[in-house]
Amino acid sequence: MTEPIYSPGLEGVVAGETAISTIADGLRYRGYSIEDLAKHACFEEVAYLILHGELPTESQLSEFRGRLAQYAPVDAELLDILLRIPTSTPLMDFLRTGTSALAHWDAEAADVSHDAQVRKAERLLAKLPTILAAHFRLRHSEKPVAPDPALSFAANVLWMLQEKVPSKTFERAMDVSLTLYAEHEFNASTFTSRVITSTISDLHSAVTGAIGALKGPLHGGANERVMAVLEEVGSPDNAEQWVRNALANKVRIMGFGHRVYKTGDPRAVYLKTLCRELAVESGGEDLEKTADVIETIVVGEKGLPPNLDWPSARLYHYMGLEVDLYTPLFVLSRVVGWSAHVIEQSDNNRLIRPRSRYTGPGPRDWVALDQR
Ligand code: CMC
Repeated sequence: MTEPIYSPGLEGVVAGETAISTIADGLRYRGYSIEDLAKHACFEEVAYLILHGELPTESQLSEFRGRLAQYAPVDAELLDILLRIPTSTPLMDFLRTGTSALAHWDAEAADVSHDAQVRKAERLLAKLPTILAAHFRLRHSEKPVAPDPALSFAANVLWMLQEKVPSKTFERAMDVSLTLYAEHEFNASTFTSRVITSTISDLHSAVTGAIGALKGPLHGGANERVMAVLEEVGSPDNAEQWVRNALANKVRIMGFGHRVYKTGDPRAVYLKTLCRELAVESGGEDLEKTADVIETIVVGEKGLPPNLDWPSARLYHYMGLEVDLYTPLFVLSRVVGWSAHVIEQSDNNRLIRPRSRYTGPGPRDWVALDQR
């Protein structure tokens, strides 16, 4: 038997085919560049595109928005159970449990047919912000805020968290960040969702697993750690010393580097401009300067460009959002990409079952218990 090819971390390995997105020529969802989508489309159009394969017509968009508004409220019995989860629970853990629990109130949970998976994906997309915001507000001893069907998806997220209709600038910034986080081919969490689906398991199981994969600091959890770094640095004056010291001590600086983008993450470039705009509106100029010093030195000394999580942390900070919401916000958007991959995988399934390279002991003779 020939030895199978081995690449640690599956680096450089093509592990499947997808028609959902490519990073071959910048990042494109279903052929459209993320720059065009971020500039011209709203998140609902992007979500529809990723889930259904084509941009919606006006009537398809309006019907999609109608469905999201209809699905957004959560069954009172389920909400009651979810709100018993201790408020000290990290929000990513809450979302993981919440996604799993939503399955028990979804009559089609076990149906893995194409149409049922699409319907479940839309329901999950609509309901995740509702449960996240309810749990988050309870933590602050505040009552849940019902979703407002008149608001856009992005505005509704902010409304349910902050009980304040956001400014147009904040709504747009949230919308763009959701667009940029929505899909990214075979990243670790998406691959997790495809592995789970490949056993002919269901969408809620796949998304629950994906949330577990996303929360780690090398993946989605990085955006929260970015803010911790910026807070620790404190001011532009401390930035140079902090970053030189971190690099000298081989500290991994969150928000920099990427397994695939070695010359720059196009999403980070786009969001940086938006950060500048929000910083002006929110008095964040010093934070921008601090980030600039760190970025210049990490790029100059290590050749590591920032990834999406570097600017997104500042963006959410300017919107007045608490740090432990940052990775959950990633979930609210990426559930679209995960779901599309679940559907694509189950439409053309082959069990994902790679091989491993054995590094344990060679054959050994059995040793009886009393002789060990
Ligand atoms: N800070 C300092 N050094 C770094 C960093 C960093 N952020 N990233 C990579 N390196 C160094 C690393 O120490 C290694 O150096 P050496 O060769 O001297 O040992 C070299 O660069 C290669 O690193 P690697 O870990 O083999 O590269 P990778 O392709 O496996 O890493 C990564 C990709 C994202 C895990 C890594 O860049 C990293 O840990 N970044 C920080 C975490 C982060 O921002 N994650 C978000 C990723 S993008 C959004 C998302 O997926 O959610």
